[in-house]
Amino acid sequence: MKTLKCIVAGFGFMGQTHAGSICNAPGMELTAVVDALPKEKIKPAAGNIKTESVSWEQLENVPFFQSLDEALHSVEADAVIVATPNFLHTDAVLTALDAGKDVFVEKPLCATLSEADQIRKKAEKTGRLVQVGFVVRFNQPYCYLKDTLTSGTLGSLQYLQMHRYTGAPAWWQGVDEQEKMDTALHDLNIHDIDFAISLLGEPENVRLNQNLHRKFNTSLFASTWNFPGGTPVQIQGGFLRPSTVPFRAGFMAMFENGMLEFTKKFDSMALFRHTADGSFEIPLDPQENPFQKEILSFAECVRNHQQPEANVHAAIRDMEWIEKLVHKM
Ligand SMILES: NC(=O)c1ccc[n+]([C@@H]2O[C@H](COP(=O)([O-])OP(=O)(O)OC[C@H]3O[C@@H](n4cnc5c(N)ncnc54)[C@H](O)[C@@H]3O)[C@@H](O)[C@H]2O)c1
Repeated sequence: MKTLKCIVAGFGFMGQTHAGSICNAPGMELTAVVDALPKEKIKPAAGNIKTESVSWEQLENVPFFQSLDEALHSVEADAVIVATPNFLHTDAVLTALDAGKDVFVEKPLCATLSEADQIRKKAEKTGRLVQVGFVVRFNQPYCYLKDTLTSGTLGSLQYLQMHRYTGAPAWWQGVDEQEKMDTALHDLNIHDIDFAISLLGEPENVRLNQNLHRKFNTSLFASTWNFPGGTPVQIQGGFLRPSTVPFRAGFMAMFENGMLEFTKKFDSMALFRHTADGSFEIPLDPQENPFQKEILSFAECVRNHQQPEANVHAAIRDMEWIEKLVHKM
């Protein structure tokens, strides 16, 4: 197996998480780290969810750079992992594609639909792959929900409710009110929107609870989506004040013959299957790391030059549906 050499750009919480996945994966090598900060100023980072991060010892021989261009000119790399703040994704993705590298970029793909179009065109022109970090697709309970739906073991899906809340992140507190508009949707709840569409296909329509959305100045939302076949899906959540509110996510999936119920807190999660025969907790493998699975799946796509499922087109479609949701298009 050819070793896949990767540069990680943006070395905060997610960059360190992906570096950990790369350093612990067979057949992958971290050849450089890029961050706006010099190495001595970078600290081990933590986020609103618990992830396996890289250990500082693993970085001993990895060179650090303050620009992606410099790293691309200095080390060998097949791929670039972009984990900079959202508004900087486009620049890094275009730079990496121009250098002929495959790209994994954290969600959301970028800040605007016109930037997304630039990325799509560049990916097509260069023929390189772009995978977007929709890690929920690799999360055990969501995979179990997908398997239950496709295997038909509980019959057809009648209703799905998904939620994701967290205390407002530190970066959001400093953003002015106009800039804050719908950042929670683009930054956090896009995970559930992406998952629902990947599970059920193109929605027929969507409706936003306008009162709630206005009342909380767009930081909270509740929405109802209709999919072909008549499955209603409710997706809700957002950024909460005070910022100390812990992370929460989950779903309730009602099938013809039973129900799945999942809750996730900061570092614990539980999945239940309720049927007429009783309620059972579905064992989740605590060793299974969705971020690791996601990076391994990206590596597999790069090796086989095969389009990832969470690709640019899926990410653009998600962004377009958020536009429709918010602007009633
Ligand atoms: N998939 C998930 O579950 C998940 C969770 C959290 C964050 N994210 C995404 O990951 C990305 C990063 O978020 P984070 O929480 O790690 O942020 P963070 O603030 O912890 O890290 C961002 C890093 O980028 C660096 N940076 C800033 N400008 C740069 C530049 N021009 N070039 C290189 N580095 C630069 C910063 O110094 C910082 O170290 C965002 O896109 C975010 O939406 C995804």
